[in-house]
Amino acid sequence: MNAVTMPRAESATDAPFFSVRDIHAYYGESYIVQGVSFDIAEGDIVALLGRNGAGKTSTLRTLARAQDPQLKSGEIWLGDLAVHTLKDYQASQSGIQFVQEDRRIIPGLTVEENLQLSQIAEPKGWPLEKIYEYFPRLAERRKQEGVTLSGGEQQMLAVARALARDIRLLLLDEPYEGLAPVIVREIEKIVAQIKELGITTIIVEQNAVAALELANRALILDMGQIVFDGTAKSVLESPELRNEYLAI
Ligand SMILES: Nc1ncnc2c1ncn2[C@@H]1O[C@H](COP(=O)(O)OP(=O)(O)O)[C@@H](O)[C@H]1O
Ligand SMILES: [Mg+2]
Repeated sequence: MNAVTMPRAESATDAPFFSVRDIHAYYGESYIVQGVSFDIAEGDIVALLGRNGAGKTSTLRTLARAQDPQLKSGEIWLGDLAVHTLKDYQASQSGIQFVQEDRRIIPGLTVEENLQLSQIAEPKGWPLEKIYEYFPRLAERRKQEGVTLSGGEQQMLAVARALARDIRLLLLDEPYEGLAPVIVREIEKIVAQIKELGITTIIVEQNAVAALELANRALILDMGQIVFDGTAKSVLESPELRNEYLAI
């Protein structure tokens, strides 16, 4: 077939991997996410940065279709899937996995039961054997109650639960939060492995340098709006951006 004469397909393959278009979201009357737009290519690691209270968590919650904040307008597309029309569980079934800051380990359940719970509904991701191969620490502690793990291990479990689901986009909210520096380095290794696996990721992190060193893209939020969209390297190299929005 002659490629030149082939009609250009108007198909999902033309759509960006993940596209956020002018989203506005509210907690009740509080207008927090104020017209955020960006596109992400498959395999991108995006550092979503900004001062405390800038709206990073709220943005991730909106993307994961959490009940709060409520999305009032705008669109979210995962390929040709209209994520803005979905509920949180449907977003998760579609491969948007959200690892929240507080990790949400279920009390009363062992490590293994926490993992099994995330595989109750289809579609499943990695089998438990593969997860245990990747996280030997979780394998050792599989019979231990999840909430009794150390902070670093709980973060591992939270990421492992996301991998136990079918995953197309990983949203990580402050994975290093509250962890000792030596543990942070362990979690950094895990995030670096996630990058090696080619899992498209948005990572929010107070430790902007750590996030930027891992990421290829950076978005900076301020007062619920994107004030920078570019390469991670350009943020690391910009004293102005670092000063103004990141305080680093
Ligand atoms: N549940 C909520 N109800 C009302 N306002 C909220 C709620 N959660 C966060 N906010 C407000 O939204 C703004 C952005 O918060 P957040 O998204 O948590 O910022 P970040 O994660 O960047 O620190 C802040 O002004 C915060 O007070
Ligand atoms: Mg936050």
